Amino acid sequence: MDPKQTILTMLRSGRDIISGSELSRRLDVSRVAVWKQVQRLQQCGYEIGASAKGYRLITDPDIPYPWEFPGREESILHFQQLESTMDTARQSARSGCPHFTVVVAEQQSAGRGRLNRSWHSGSGGLYFTVVLRPQIPPALSPRLNLCASLVLAETLRKDYAIPARVKWPNDVLVDGRKIAGILAEMEAEADRVSYVNIGVGVNVNNNPTPAEPGAVTMQEQVGSPVSRKKWLAAFLDSFETRIDSGNMGSVIGAWKTLSITLGRQVKIVTLQGETEGRAVDVDANGSLILQVADGSLKTILYGDCFHM
Ligand code: BTN
Repeated sequence: MDPKQTILTMLRSGRDIISGSELSRRLDVSRVAVWKQVQRLQQCGYEIGASAKGYRLITDPDIPYPWEFPGREESILHFQQLESTMDTARQSARSGCPHFTVVVAEQQSAGRGRLNRSWHSGSGGLYFTVVLRPQIPPALSPRLNLCASLVLAETLRKDYAIPARVKWPNDVLVDGRKIAGILAEMEAEADRVSYVNIGVGVNVNNNPTPAEPGAVTMQEQVGSPVSRKKWLAAFLDSFETRIDSGNMGSVIGAWKTLSITLGRQVKIVTLQGETEGRAVDVDANGSLILQVADGSLKTILYGDCFHM
């Protein structure tokens, strides 16, 4: 276990002050080594008071450092600033990082969304990409996007009572305003997925810019700042359970119950063109089934969806 984790657990135990000798016994290291770890935590933003009696945690930064995720410390790569977590996750995936590696950045200078849009990534939001290595053919990968948006909406509803709904293919909205977006990138060899990277941007405590008039934050919905660490831990646990359960049928069914797209007249825009119709269903792969003007059904694999 990372010694920082042990120190933080003891400092958070409810006791006012923890002596250096108790920490040194618990960690089985010298008091100088304990002091060095405390200094590292201080450099990371933890305000820890040090006196002759010992150490006291004064404030705890809401930063998703790897050691804040017991059991996941090896698989969380945390950065202060990146161009885009998608790029770093792609490099990690190509270099062979394990399934469910998570790349998280406090800020992104070139965060991107679908259809080459940019994704504003100021401080207070959550910006991360999960590297998945599913044993599925490439055609089934869109199901993973739906799964991510479903788990996002479920976590917001269950843990924060935020009435989040899903919009095909993978937006999460509250009363028509966007609280989170998902971007997926995949690489495949022949008929086997090599990796699918699921990038997630969540408006948590950030201030949306005037360029994002349709955005809403968790903070605004809850009425006070939300712990990004706690939300991310809950999301990752639920997402991993869903992904590894192999029961994607239940994902599509649950997604449909939270969908605001089905039953509506929509326009689908891709870089190639536009299609209009009524959204009648989502198939087992996560594709949208549209009933177009002549009554026939059209299967839409990807695209941006506008409700008419
Ligand atoms: C969209 O709604 O168009 C998708 C937005 C996805 C944004 C996230 S933030 C983390 C990851 N890194 C990026 O550059 N984009 C995704």
